[in-house]
Amino acid sequence: MTTPTAPLTQDELKTLVGQAALHYVVPGEIVGVGTGSTVNKFIDALATMKDQIKGAVSSSVASTERLKALGITVFDANDVQSLSVYIDGADEIDGQGYMVKGGGAALTREKIVAALAKQFVCIADESKLVAALGNFPLPVEVIPMAAGQIARKFEVMGGTATLRMKDGQPLVTDNGQHILDVRGLQITEPLAFESQVNQWPGVVTVGVFAHQKAHVCLLGCADGVRTITY
Ligand code: 5RP
Repeated sequence: MTTPTAPLTQDELKTLVGQAALHYVVPGEIVGVGTGSTVNKFIDALATMKDQIKGAVSSSVASTERLKALGITVFDANDVQSLSVYIDGADEIDGQGYMVKGGGAALTREKIVAALAKQFVCIADESKLVAALGNFPLPVEVIPMAAGQIARKFEVMGGTATLRMKDGQPLVTDNGQHILDVRGLQITEPLAFESQVNQWPGVVTVGVFAHQKAHVCLLGCADGVRTITY
């Protein structure tokens, strides 16, 4: 008789996918690194092969600090023309590889680094897989003086936007801007939605990653890592 084993915790699933992502890192090259608790597991795993890579381009101050603390060289994105791979988490990912990101307020730099990469590998636990985007409050990085008018535009769409706060003050991103979190949206056409919101004056970045969707998702599930290719 076999003893039943306890299901893996969300943290253990994040560790599993963080380690699995090492298979996509190309030795001798620079790797694009995202932001968040799942990416932190990847960064920790990456430290085990730090002598085999040239370094990383990072999508946030937090990831840069973690990479450097582990002895991984961090390159300025301006000094890199292209990357083989960008590895990052997501707040939601759908069946086509479209994502909502920005729960960690790093969405703008995440899009910038992702745009340098030929392949986007999303690492996530299975709670992130959704049938349609929109349940997670949509992060939008905005220029502070435009926050009010952008919030009103989301209201017209049926959403409710709130300014993200930290320690009683509006959260300030690595780029010196603010974040609106928009609830109540149904994002049925992610490509069109991303294009539309990107046009609004004062929007720095909308947290829908449709034009830069994932090519691969390493999904941490009860029975191990599932690889989904889009
Ligand atoms: C940060 C992000 C993260 O990838 C997203 O929030 C997922 O984070 P976590 O791995 O902690 O669940 O977009 O801006």
